[in-house]
Amino acid sequence: MKYNLIFLTAAASAVSAFPGMKDLMADLGKRQAETATVELLGDLLDGATTPVGQEVKDCLLGNVACQDPSKKTYAPPGPLGSPACAEDTCCVWDFIQKDLTDLFLDCDGTCNELARGAVRFGFHDAAAWSKTSGFGGADGSLLISKDEILRSENQGMDDIYAAGNDLLAKYSEYGIGAGDLVQFMHNTATVLCPLGPRILTYVGREDSENNPTGLLPDTHSPAPVLIELFQDKTINFKDLIALIGAHTVANQQFVDPSQAGAPLDSTPGIWDVKFYNETLQATPPPGVFRLPSDESFKNDNATAPGFTVFSDPVTGQTTWNAAYSVAYVRMSLLGVNNINELTDCTKVLPDQVFDFTPKACPSSSSSSSYTSTTSTTSIQILHDHTTMAPMVTPAPETDSYDSYGTTTAYVTVTVEC
Ligand code: HEM
Repeated sequence: MKYNLIFLTAAASAVSAFPGMKDLMADLGKRQAETATVELLGDLLDGATTPVGQEVKDCLLGNVACQDPSKKTYAPPGPLGSPACAEDTCCVWDFIQKDLTDLFLDCDGTCNELARGAVRFGFHDAAAWSKTSGFGGADGSLLISKDEILRSENQGMDDIYAAGNDLLAKYSEYGIGAGDLVQFMHNTATVLCPLGPRILTYVGREDSENNPTGLLPDTHSPAPVLIELFQDKTINFKDLIALIGAHTVANQQFVDPSQAGAPLDSTPGIWDVKFYNETLQATPPPGVFRLPSDESFKNDNATAPGFTVFSDPVTGQTTWNAAYSVAYVRMSLLGVNNINELTDCTKVLPDQVFDFTPKACPSSSSSSSYTSTTSTTSIQILHDHTTMAPMVTPAPETDSYDSYGTTTAYVTVTVEC
């Protein structure tokens, strides 16, 4: 099977660059009775005072594209740790993207469960914020706070949590922050998943362990409740319906434990629009699970048209990638109050895959495994497999101790090829 992203043009605006898309988005807008307000964020509310602030503002307002599909030309100016590399803010991130590429791809070229975890992790870190929460957002708290990962809404992300903490331990001496790493992992996963967008990627956020509770969505809530929850994060219903397309690379474990591991579309290793197509059908294809919230969005007057627009066989993928990029740049900056001081490091991201045919895996490859090798946490996160409630236990005595006096929690991730 061959998968193809028809890129109508690689230029400028998310909307104005694509005439067909402009019509589609206008049509989507017309058919929706409500207006989708577009708000600014953080310090941009006081003005865009730097070129990067202006770039983000233009992206959020739809004046320029929030993705860069051009081919990567960046090469690090020197080895990691060299003065030349230290001089270039983006240099260390190029080394991190290489590690993530090894972690996120299966031998056939599709993206794997760690990549899926990274997409969800970026969302869950950033979305713990609202216009009235006063704190939280894309601050890395999900990676560095002791308790956030233990909350029931964050079940199932232990492996990407461990992998992220490994990377933080490996690269923090080069000045990286947790909030940036979490969003960088999301954006690297997105572009590595075949057909996914190369989203504008910024670094320079301030980290914080503080995080408000009760701001993540419940899949059993009806669409209007979810729309309001996201509007309180400045994410309007059009952005929201673009964002939930991330369920194209998703499995579920806990909504129906009897179907644990069931994907939310039939191609969970590819960033295609089958999620929208298949959710439009009366019943999901065999083996595919449908979340109650996705069913509710499909049936809601405001969000239903998005499913039709994004599942269009000719323009859907291009339209969706552009819309997802706009919405996710916004998501990745929730709670960030120094947007004018960020650095654009999109140039280090891997190339986008526009045209994909799964590769044959070498016959010798059965499975590979990832083992966390650095100190990540002094507790173990386990889940009671009857109730799926998180259980915190002391790390086993056999774990090793590092120079910081914390224990090493080893987590093994098996990647099936
Ligand atoms: C109304 C909004 C949303 C709801 C109610 C929702 C709910 C869920 C639920 C219940 C699961 C399955 C968890 C499990 O049982 O393991 C899931 C998985 C997932 N969600 Fe969402 N979600 C929403 C929005 C988003 C957004 C905005 C993104 C990303 C931008 C996202 C990305 C993912 C991914 C990638 C997975 C799969 C993770 C994996 O396979 O490891 N979701 N979501």
